[in-house]
Amino acid sequence: MFLPLLFTIFLLSSSSSAHASALDFCVADPSLPDGPAGYSCKKPAKVTVDDFVYHGLGIPGNTSNLIKAAVTVAFAPTFPGVNGLGISIARLDLAVDGVVPLHTHPGGSEILYVLEGTICAGFISSSANTVYFKTLYKGDVMVFPQGLLHFQFNSGKTLAVAIVSFSSPTPGLQITDFALFANNLPSEIVEKVTFLDDAQVKKLKGVLGGTG
Ligand SMILES: *[C@@H]1O[C@H](CO)[C@@H](O)[C@H](O)[C@H]1NC(C)=O
Repeated sequence: MFLPLLFTIFLLSSSSSAHASALDFCVADPSLPDGPAGYSCKKPAKVTVDDFVYHGLGIPGNTSNLIKAAVTVAFAPTFPGVNGLGISIARLDLAVDGVVPLHTHPGGSEILYVLEGTICAGFISSSANTVYFKTLYKGDVMVFPQGLLHFQFNSGKTLAVAIVSFSSPTPGLQITDFALFANNLPSEIVEKVTFLDDAQVKKLKGVLGGTG
């Protein structure tokens, strides 16, 4: 008799003070621009459970492309619930011969978990340029520290699938080859800053859609 009454009083008093404390979450409003602290928060009344649920990582990505790889991302713009939480997740599909070329995520560290197949993955340290790479099999996990150049490629004879998670809701992505050869930076400047010869630069610009 006494205990249930006490419990009811506790519930009443805690519910009346719940909204006076810190924000529980800041679901992204992707219609507004993002900034260093992430997206602005959706009005709590407009938040639904679907903001915290992402469907689609069970579906294979389309690897019919130059790199024979597909990354399906659940980042803040498409998975608004992760905004402000410092996490996100994605699915990586690597067809046979598929490769995620040398790249970096300026905004976060990455952890990769192999679901299927065989993936050779590695990263390069920033000052010593030490290379850390390994062939990973089903069940293996590898971590890639924030900002460091890294790569993954299918080193097996079957499709490879991995789940990758990031320590940021918007980790960003810069692929070295695309940065060098998929834009209009003049060839002579690319050659000067990479020590590559003209024929190689023109060939890669052609393959990757660059001009100049
Ligand atoms: C996969 O991508 C290719 C190239 O963009 C496209 O031609 C093809 O229709 C896509 N396949 C599927 C199943 O969406």
